[in-house]
Amino acid sequence: MEPAPPIDPLKPLVDAVTRTRMRDMLLMAIAAASGAWIAPLDSPAGGAIAAVAFVATLRLVMPKGAWLWRAESLLPRPSNRPESALHDARILDRLPIPYLVLDAEARVTSCSTDARALLARDPRGQHIATVFRAPAVLAAIDSALADGTDESLDFTALRPRRRQLHATVRALKAADPTKARVVLALQDVTQMRQLDAMRMDFVANASHELRTPLAAITGMVETLQGPARDDHDNHHRFLGIIERESARMARLVDDLLSLSRIELQENIIPTGQENLALIVKEAVSATAALATQNGNTVTVDLGSDKAYVKCDRDELLQVFHNLITNAIKYGYARSPITITRVEGNSEQIGIRIQDKGDGIEPSLVPRLTERFFRVNKRESISRGGTGLGLAIVKHILTRHKGRLQIESVPGEGSAFTVWLPVIDVKEDPSDV
Ligand SMILES: Nc1ncnc2c1ncn2[C@@H]1O[C@H](COP(=O)(O)OP(=O)(O)OP(=O)(O)O)[C@@H](O)[C@H]1O
Ligand SMILES: [Mg+2]
Repeated sequence: MEPAPPIDPLKPLVDAVTRTRMRDMLLMAIAAASGAWIAPLDSPAGGAIAAVAFVATLRLVMPKGAWLWRAESLLPRPSNRPESALHDARILDRLPIPYLVLDAEARVTSCSTDARALLARDPRGQHIATVFRAPAVLAAIDSALADGTDESLDFTALRPRRRQLHATVRALKAADPTKARVVLALQDVTQMRQLDAMRMDFVANASHELRTPLAAITGMVETLQGPARDDHDNHHRFLGIIERESARMARLVDDLLSLSRIELQENIIPTGQENLALIVKEAVSATAALATQNGNTVTVDLGSDKAYVKCDRDELLQVFHNLITNAIKYGYARSPITITRVEGNSEQIGIRIQDKGDGIEPSLVPRLTERFFRVNKRESISRGGTGLGLAIVKHILTRHKGRLQIESVPGEGSAFTVWLPVIDVKEDPSDV
């Protein structure tokens, strides 16, 4: 068999230039012929026309040395120019991904800006075992270097602070094992995992809260159908328990729905404009019967200046209703409750609800707005509480760009202050 002719690398270049030349020559001939047709070539006009057509054709066909450019474009480009490699490295370094590249000995050869920020240091030149201690990551890197296997895993990094990281280990195999590389991309998933845990906790808590009254109702129904079938004297008592427990379930479902509705709207700023004092007074009236029943005297002093807030009226009513009810429920019976206006700066107004009672242990104060958190669960349940009230308050205030301040002295009582931004409103005749 005849050997294949050697491939000339410059052949495409030569072909392209030849093609361009031939086309140019043809165009020049057409230009010259048209000049000769308009005027004889030997006349000055004919010569000038032919020359102009010739130059114009040349410029049209080869503007700014186009053929040179075209020929150049066919030449193989040098791919490993040092400056282009440097440029690529800079782009990779700026990619918004924390990643490290390791050599065959698991030493860090390069590392992105984000990785340096994540680790709070520059690990280049160091062995990966001095960067991360987690055995799972080190094992994944070992097997990537030994067998070329890729892996993804979660691990806990302890430095510069405790964090949950997701690592993707990718092997870059090479014929020469000393040239093998590993890319280790990292993602901080601490917040994501915390949210997952919170969601799972919430579902577990909500199911548990619902299961308790449900079990009581089922138990009562079974008792009524079985052992207490003919115990007519106790029927009324059992039915009372069923009624109380089903009311508790209904309250729980209402509060859960209310919480999820408020959460969904958290980023939507309310549009109503209300005089805050009127909302507080309405909440005081709505809780007056409970306060009287408990023997509390409620004193309200909101000052004479009107303060308007941008709000959803019903939601703010719910905030003050829960805080006043809490003061009645968890304060001492027959003790005073005071509701006062607190002056902040000119941009916000505070309404403080203060009670006299056992107060709350300082370490528990930050947990009060957690869902289902109660200092004394049995006491809260016996008073019909779901443990969602303050969580709802917190979400409503977040939506209103406000906040809840809690101060409590064990043995003396608690003060819950609602801070809200005030707005300028022209005099509203309906308030007078
Ligand atoms: N004024 C207060 N004094 C002492 N403890 C309080 C006070 N307000 C709230 N707490 C504690 O905080 C817990 C959570 O209150 P929160 O309003 O969220 O739930 P709840 O009152 O138990 O139920 P709900 O408001 O859903 O009916 C209460 O169970 C109680 O232990
Ligand atoms: Mg409450």
